[in-house]
Amino acid sequence: VVDPPEVSLSAPAPVQSPPPQPEITKAEVQPVPGAPSETVADSAIPDVAVIQTLALLRREVEQCTACKLAESRTRTVFGSGPEQSDWLFVGEAPGQQEDRQGKPFVGRPGSLLTQMLLALGQQREQVFIANALKCRPPGNRDPLPEELRACEPFLLKQIELVKPEVMVALGRISAQALLNSDQSLAKLRGQVYRYGPDNIPLIVTYHPAYLLRNPADKGKVWEDLLLANRQLPG
Ligand code: URA
Repeated sequence: VVDPPEVSLSAPAPVQSPPPQPEITKAEVQPVPGAPSETVADSAIPDVAVIQTLALLRREVEQCTACKLAESRTRTVFGSGPEQSDWLFVGEAPGQQEDRQGKPFVGRPGSLLTQMLLALGQQREQVFIANALKCRPPGNRDPLPEELRACEPFLLKQIELVKPEVMVALGRISAQALLNSDQSLAKLRGQVYRYGPDNIPLIVTYHPAYLLRNPADKGKVWEDLLLANRQLPG
């Protein structure tokens, strides 16, 4: 396992066993209906109800013009991973390098995510990696509510098709979107949520880009990942 220059999760500082976690069970966390939007008409929201494969869904994403990000993107970033995976990670949105290459998490935060996965004993190719947005917001600004709303059907369909045993929201934006919450990441992490009709365990943790800036929090991320790992069926 290679140590990244700034932050290594493969050899984390001795992590004390996390204190017993209150496993908060939400009977069902409803997917985000999203705030009413003036800039994305309901008729523009992608209808992916009949799509039954990731390949067809990818094609829909490539052709999507539901929000203005379609005008500024170089490439859509669908996500990566097998047709079905135990793990599904949800990031925020493509950055500059992802926009150029059409792949998620290929920049420095992506290298750290790869290290995080290796520390969990997972090859990157074995897990599904998606983003809340499939197109890059110009200048890497935060996604707008209407952009998240327009893109949400794609993420929901990915979750439906990949059928993960556990989901990890990377960072505030994806956590808030998946949980339909406006709470801070610090408040949201450290719990097990139950997502959607299948009650998929959902854990929230810091975004790898945040961790690059705040390496002191790597122990918290490691705790979150171990909590996620414990949700997998024996
Ligand atoms: N940050 C994200 O949230 N997703 C990416 O794909 C790249 C950086």
